[in-house]
Amino acid sequence: MTDSLTIRRPDDWHLHLRDGAMLDAVLPETARHFARAIIMPNLVPPVVRGTDAAAYRDRILAALPEGMTFEPLMTLYLTEDTDPEDVAAAHASGLVKAVKLYPAGATTNSSSGVKDFDKVRPVLEKMAEIGLPLCCHGEVTDHDIDIFDREAVFIERVLDPVRKSTPGLRVVMEHITTANGVDYVKANEADLGATITTHHLIINRNHILVGGIKPHYYCLPVAKREEHRLALVDAATSGDARFFLGTDSAPHTDANKEMACGCAGCFTATNTMSLLAEVFEKANALDKLEAFTSRNGPGFYRLPVNEETITLTKGDVVTYPDKIESGDGPVTVFDPGFDVHWRVA
Ligand code: NCD
Ligand code: ZN
Repeated sequence: MTDSLTIRRPDDWHLHLRDGAMLDAVLPETARHFARAIIMPNLVPPVVRGTDAAAYRDRILAALPEGMTFEPLMTLYLTEDTDPEDVAAAHASGLVKAVKLYPAGATTNSSSGVKDFDKVRPVLEKMAEIGLPLCCHGEVTDHDIDIFDREAVFIERVLDPVRKSTPGLRVVMEHITTANGVDYVKANEADLGATITTHHLIINRNHILVGGIKPHYYCLPVAKREEHRLALVDAATSGDARFFLGTDSAPHTDANKEMACGCAGCFTATNTMSLLAEVFEKANALDKLEAFTSRNGPGFYRLPVNEETITLTKGDVVTYPDKIESGDGPVTVFDPGFDVHWRVA
């Protein structure tokens, strides 16, 4: 039985670091294990222009504790007013690694997102030309579409038409939660990848709703049926280069999660690597963990794999803190609901 595993240092291809006191609290939780992360731009106000991204990167680097190394890979929040030339300049300078599409109103802080896709056509065409990936929050927001169907409908009504009308556009379907998402990626050879979160490999919708509502399992896209979770585990553990880790670790204070209208987001930065080792071991696929966390993402983003390594070891039950403290209040760490035996040495 394997009880030690050394892999290239992982990256997180979808991360919310927030700002201010929350940034100070959560950044070390990621930087402890991860070398780089794609940083989500859904601040209030959002990170829209290259200058916004440069200033946010500086705040992240200023918040990084002495002795830790971490490279934030910045993104821009696509709005109907985004200027293609500003995007191209931010990419050419090396600052920006992706542009993020939020359909307006789809999730936390997405009110500046896109309503009319024709308005962003010039930006998408510029991105296809320069090879800059579009990261998609893949859910429609139509009130008549059931929340559990919103990803499947997005693929059909938005993603596929956008990809067909913008040849060469490189797209990441983010935090896929359905077998439909997995199948769509597999059916399309070029220029399409997908991130999968830690929590969607572990919970299904019963975890949120059975035996009392569990606000700390509520995130967007919402977890689906067990058959979808199993399709995600198959994809993540397959070694297929088109699937890679994006934790979508999304901290909210307990006060903001445990209320009548609680925020969406699971905070998984602290224990993600231990949890993934458990998931991959259960799937008899520990040998595929490195592809998922450390190789496929750089492959898609055309960046080098990290030179450093981390070692995971298996032993007694590992305990993580239930919460981390932030200047804004406590943040609950994702509870997988099972014992964890893998630790990062
Ligand atoms: C994210 C957040 O809190 O910013 N929440 C979430 O449930 N994932 C937004 C997002 O990525 O949808
Ligand atoms: Zn997210």
